[in-house]
Amino acid sequence: MKKTVLLSVVFILVIVIIAIPLLAQTKKQTTKTVAKKALCLSCHENTQSILPKNHKPVSGDTIASCNPCHKPDLSGKAEPRPYAGTLHRAHVKEGSTADCMICHTYKGGRLGISGTGVSLGKVEKEDLENTKKIFLSWSQSKNMDGIHGKVDIMCSACHGNKLATTGDTVENDRCLTCHGPLEALQKRSEPKDFPDRNPHNSHLGDIACTVCHKAHSPSTVYCLGCHGNFKMKIPGAEPKG
Ligand code: HEC
Ligand code: HEC
Ligand code: HEC
Ligand code: HEC
Ligand code: HEC
Ligand code: HEC
Ligand code: HEC
Repeated sequence: MKKTVLLSVVFILVIVIIAIPLLAQTKKQTTKTVAKKALCLSCHENTQSILPKNHKPVSGDTIASCNPCHKPDLSGKAEPRPYAGTLHRAHVKEGSTADCMICHTYKGGRLGISGTGVSLGKVEKEDLENTKKIFLSWSQSKNMDGIHGKVDIMCSACHGNKLATTGDTVENDRCLTCHGPLEALQKRSEPKDFPDRNPHNSHLGDIACTVCHKAHSPSTVYCLGCHGNFKMKIPGAEPKG
C-alpha cells in the first residue's frame, strides 16, 4: 500500500518536472504569435487584396510600407482622409482581434506609427483607454462621430492638430468650417410650418453646437426639455428601440 503511494508521488513529480518547461515553451509561442500580428499578412492573404481597386502595387508587409506615400497628416485640417478612414473602420470593431498596436507604438506617453519613428503626439495612459473607446464609437456607432467616421472624417478634422484628451470639446467655428456659414445652416433648418421653431435660430441666441449635437454619445434636442409639444428630430440621436 505504502509503496503505491510513494510511486504515485514520484510519478506526479516526474510529470510536473516535464510539464514546467513545456508550459514555458507554449507561453513563448503565444508571445511570438502576438508579435507576428504586426505583419499585415498574418491576417491578410496578400497586400494587393487589401488595397483599393486601381491602387498602385505595394511591396512590404507592415504599416511602414504604406508610410512613404501616405505620410501621416498632422496638420489638423478640416477635411476627409480616405486612407486613415479606411484603415480604422476596417480594424477598429467590437470583438476584433486587430489591436491598435498592429500599426501604432506607445512609448513614453506618445502614440507613434510602427516602424516609422513618426509621433502623432502625446496621450496619457488613462486617456489612451478613453481614446480606444471613442474610436470604437467613431468606427461603428450611430452617434455623430459614427456619422463622420463613415465619410472618412478623422478625429483631427474636429479636434485640430493635437490629439484630443479627456475633457476636450470643439468650438462652433470648427463645425461651421464644413457646415457653415451659420446663416445658411439656419435657413436649411427653418421648419416650413413653424418657422420660429428653428433649432439653429431661437430665443436661446448663440449657443454651443454641443448643447444638442453630442459627438461621442447620442445627441438630444435641448429645446424639447422645455417645449415637449414641439416635433423635432436630430441626426445621431438614440435610435428608437
Ligand atoms: C489581426 C488581423 C489583422 C491584421 C494583423 C491586419 N488586418 Fe487588415 N483587416 C482585418 C480584418 C478583419 C479586416 C476587415 C475585412 C472585411 O471587412 O471584410 C481588414 C481589412 C483591411 C483593409 C480594408 C479592406 C477593404 O476593402 O475595406 C485594409 C486596407 C487593411 N485591412 C489593411 C491592413 C494593413 C495595412 C495591415 C498591416 C499594417 C493589416 N490590415 C493588418 C484584419 C487584420
Ligand atoms: C507608391 C505610393 C503608395 C504606397 C506605397 C501606398 N499607397 Fe495607398 N494610395 C496612393 C495614392 C496616390 C492614393 C490616392 C490618393 C490618396 O488618397 O492619398 C492612395 C489611396 C489609398 C487609399 C484610399 C483610397 C480611397 O478610398 O480613396 C487607401 C485605403 C490606401 N491607399 C491604402 C494603402 C495601404 C494599406 C498601403 C500600404 C500597404 C498603401 N496604400 C501604400 C499611393 C500609395
Ligand atoms: C491598420 C493600421 C491601424 C490600426 C489598426 C489603428 N491605426 Fe490609428 N492610425 C494609423 C495610421 C496609418 C495613422 C495616420 C494616418 C494619417 O495621418 O493619414 C493613424 C492615426 C491615428 C490617430 C490620429 C488621428 C487623426 O485624427 O489624425 C489616432 C488618434 C489613432 N490612429 C489611434 C488609433 C487607435 C486608438 C487605434 C485602436 C483602437 C488605432 N489607431 C488603430 C493606422 C492604424
Ligand atoms: C464631428 C466632430 C468630431 C469628431 C470627428 C471627433 N470628435 Fe471628439 N469630440 C467632439 C466634440 C463636439 C466633443 C465634446 C464632447 C461632446 O459633446 O460629445 C468631443 C470630445 C472628445 C473627447 C473628450 C471627451 C471626454 O471623454 O472627456 C475626446 C477624448 C475625444 N473627443 C476624442 C476623439 C477621438 C479619438 C476621435 C477620433 C476617433 C474624435 N474625438 C472624433 C467632436 C468630434
Ligand atoms: C471636416 C468637415 C466637417 C467637420 C469639421 C464637421 N463635420 Fe459634420 N459632417 C461632415 C460631413 C461630410 C458629413 C456627412 C455628409 C452630410 O450629411 O453633410 C457630416 C454630417 C454631420 C451631421 C449629420 C447630417 C445629417 O443630415 O445626417 C451633423 C448633425 C453634423 N455633421 C454636425 C457637426 C458638428 C456639430 C460638428 C462640430 C462638432 C461637425 N459636424 C464637424 C463634415 C464635417
Ligand atoms: C438646440 C439644439 C441644436 C443646436 C444648439 C445645434 N443644432 Fe444642429 N441640429 C439640431 C436639430 C434638431 C437638427 C435637425 C433639424 C434639421 O435637420 O433641419 C440639426 C441639424 C443639423 C445639421 C444637419 C442638417 C443640415 O442642414 O446640414 C447640421 C450640419 C447641424 N445641425 C450643425 C449644427 C452646428 C454646426 C451647430 C452649432 C453652430 C448646431 N447644429 C447647433 C439641433 C441643434
Ligand atoms: C429653458 C427652457 C427653454 C428652452 C431650453 C427653450 N425654450 Fe423656447 N421658450 C421658453 C419659454 C419660457 C418661452 C415663453 C413661454 C411660452 O410661450 O411657452 C419660450 C418660447 C418659445 C417660442 C414661442 C412660443 C411657442 O411655444 O411657439 C418658440 C418658437 C420657442 N420658444 C422655440 C424654442 C426653440 C427652437 C428652442 C431650442 C433651440 C427653445 N425654444 C428652447 C423656454 C425654453
